[in-house]
Amino acid sequence: MAVNSIFVIGSGIMGNGIAQVAAQAGYQVWMQDLTPELVGKGLGVISRNLQKNVDKGKLAVEKMREILGNITTVTDLEKAGEADMVIEVATERWAIKEQIFKELDKRCRPDCIMASNTSSISITKIGAVTSRPEKVVGTHFFNPVPVMPIVELIAGLSTAEETMKAVEEMAQRMKKETVRAKDYPAFLLNRMLLPLLNEAFYCLMEGVGTREDIDKGMRLAMGHPMGPLTLSDFVGLDTLLSVFQVMYEGYGDPKYFPCPLLVQMVAAGHYGVKSGKGFYDYRK
Ligand code: 3HC
Repeated sequence: MAVNSIFVIGSGIMGNGIAQVAAQAGYQVWMQDLTPELVGKGLGVISRNLQKNVDKGKLAVEKMREILGNITTVTDLEKAGEADMVIEVATERWAIKEQIFKELDKRCRPDCIMASNTSSISITKIGAVTSRPEKVVGTHFFNPVPVMPIVELIAGLSTAEETMKAVEEMAQRMKKETVRAKDYPAFLLNRMLLPLLNEAFYCLMEGVGTREDIDKGMRLAMGHPMGPLTLSDFVGLDTLLSVFQVMYEGYGDPKYFPCPLLVQMVAAGHYGVKSGKGFYDYRK
């Protein structure tokens, strides 16, 4: 089945990024969030991103208008019933995902692909709350979505090969590379990234290196675009902690136990860029 329209649930940092790349790829996009203010904020981010590209001479004004014209903002799930594909990018909490996928199961067409951008919740578990787990798949994009050139595709235990092919085609149309992962805690890419970040937290907690040297070292010695502490602030320390918890519970292996410094920072509300303070201070 050809996918021509995508309904994106959530207009935060990942949701608006996915809506942007989908609209750029020529899909008809609905971007949904709970209030007109939230969804308006998401659309504002997309407009500013596109405007920057216009200012740099990388995008024609007419093309920017066309891309924005592909996006309709909504505050309920009604139009999900018309979409060829839904990508859920809501808050990373099981109770929220469960409710959304039960609702989608009632509303979406039988041939609709139902994807989640979750970075930690099991795709098999999400699929099991629907009557069509073969249509449920993980599409894990990376932040910032318009820039990062890859999507991790996760097959739940019951996900059909046809569904995997459909999301591969979608990624290709968005000009993104793909990797496939099985549905084990943290999938493939976060499973490798998070232990590295955790080790950086321990190095800071134990005073092995300063905050600046930890980041500088990994940038210059390993060629990483951002040091691990800056990257953690950028992704969100609360998000990272919830992925660690899923890994630790899922594998029961102490190597995934989150560093006490991370736990402490999240308890203090120091989530990183989004809260204004993390390993670094982002308040003006
Ligand atoms: N949105 C859109 N575009 C952005 C952007 C954003 N938030 N941030 C930067 N860009 C664009 C810039 O406009 C610029 O575009 P141009 O080449 O057309 O001029 C380009 O990206 C490069 O930006 P800058 O020159 O300002 O800065 P950098 O060269 O330092 O690049 C970066 C910024 C791309 C964010 C780079 O630092 C990087 O790759 N960082 C690592 C990001 C990363 O690892 N992401 C994965 C996180 S893990 C994750 O998301 C999974 C989750 O489950 C935990």
